[in-house]
Amino acid sequence: MTQDTALLQAQDTNIRKGSNSRKVFIKTYGCQMNVYDSVRMSDALAKDGYEPTEDMEEADLVLLNTCHIREKAAEKVYSALGRLRDMKKQRAGEGRDMMIGVTGCVAQAEGEEILRRAPAVDVVIGPQTYHRLPEALRRAKGGERVVDTEYAIEDKFEHLPLAEKAKIRKRGVTAFLTVQEGCDKFCTFCVVPYTRGSEVSRPVHQIVEEAEKLVDGGVREITLLGQNVNAWHGEGPRGEEWSLGDLLYRLAEIPGLARLRYTTSHPRDMDDRLIDAHRNLRMLMPYLHLPVQAGSNRILKAMNRRHTASEYVALIERIRAARPDIAISGDFIVGFPGETDADFEDTLRLVEEVRYAQAFSFKYSTRPGTPGAELKDQVPEEVKARRLEKLQALLLKQQQEFAESCVGKVIDLLLEKPGRMPGQLIGRSPWLQSVNVDAKASQIGDIIRVRITGISTNSLFAEVVSN
Ligand code: SAH
Ligand code: SF4
Ligand code: F3S
Repeated sequence: MTQDTALLQAQDTNIRKGSNSRKVFIKTYGCQMNVYDSVRMSDALAKDGYEPTEDMEEADLVLLNTCHIREKAAEKVYSALGRLRDMKKQRAGEGRDMMIGVTGCVAQAEGEEILRRAPAVDVVIGPQTYHRLPEALRRAKGGERVVDTEYAIEDKFEHLPLAEKAKIRKRGVTAFLTVQEGCDKFCTFCVVPYTRGSEVSRPVHQIVEEAEKLVDGGVREITLLGQNVNAWHGEGPRGEEWSLGDLLYRLAEIPGLARLRYTTSHPRDMDDRLIDAHRNLRMLMPYLHLPVQAGSNRILKAMNRRHTASEYVALIERIRAARPDIAISGDFIVGFPGETDADFEDTLRLVEEVRYAQAFSFKYSTRPGTPGAELKDQVPEEVKARRLEKLQALLLKQQQEFAESCVGKVIDLLLEKPGRMPGQLIGRSPWLQSVNVDAKASQIGDIIRVRITGISTNSLFAEVVSN
């Protein structure tokens, strides 16, 4: 049977069954936590007969899983909703239904406002309530427009199904696992404490069960996620207090799991146990994303980061003493209200001192409802743009120097997916770089020894040393 006839037969069967199979297209914006949430939503919807699709045209339901972190991110959602409105209208003309849902952080921040601004939207669901998405969709089918952004008293994860083995296998050999949500830090520029609510840690048994399920489905590398992942805390088997370091040691015992990572961390929550895990746990990859945002103590204080520049640098030194080959990555904001040229020079100095392997930098974006929005001395756009350009040039230079320093090294490579050329695979280095190497598709999921032979803009090249 050819593929075409198989497809026709499948369609035919659907028509005879009254076409129960519905398709959902999920567009994910923002951070890895949203990526994880999209997967969980897709699994929850599968129970109601929704199959995921990559093609918006054939979707019966389109979900935008949104991000509110900067103005641009939030605006993107409304322009996407404009396009979806036109699509929905056109479909209605053809007698075909289409539902539109907004989930994630814009949903939480704007709630009802989305229904007012975008009349085509059927459901608005916050990041804490998406286990109630199937029910909201049923109500919307009945003609209601549903907004559910109340923080749920029940634990959403208790109500969400975990995917079956075959499905996990299809998703690849690396996976995200959210262990902590929300934030109590209230940095003055940031919307996260308002969109994601206060800090909650998932219990150990729930995390271990999910990790085991992932490993059973072929996952070799798990990245633990949280807005403040290193603020995670829980209870060990004897009722003792556990921090993220303890959790990493526990997860490292799962047979078949090869690698662990975690992100994003706050400098204030890097405790000794976690640094100890970097020293002793070989499975914990030598990569740490530790945002600092700025290098001026005055600005750090105004941002409510609750540490100084030299405390941050001293912390990095302690971590490097524990794990000398660790790659440090960071986030930066330029043009926070009141930032002077001298403050910005402090940021450049800090970058010179730390030497980053990877970094993300942004122009300060005023977010409604945050304390930063109330501050006088907002920095003009062109000043922000100039500072960003200067900072990014320095960070890019450091990133290239780091990549160059890898050439000649023999490393363990986790083979992840097909490469650009036939006969090639892309793997992930311990430092999170993409590495191209000659290998067979059947080796996906294997960890092999390779020697780094060269670099290009976004990836490295390697030759096999031993399989
Ligand atoms: N919890 C993490 C950061 C989460 S948000 C931490 O504490 O570091 C991801 C990044 O977005 C932040 O590190 C910051 O660099 C950037 N960001 C957050 N709010 C911003 C804003 N209002 N304007 C510009 N960048 C912002
Ligand atoms: Fe936002 Fe600060 Fe919380 Fe990070 S620690 S999520 S930057 S408030
Ligand atoms: Fe964006 Fe929400 Fe993540 S605001 S960065 S999607 S926590």
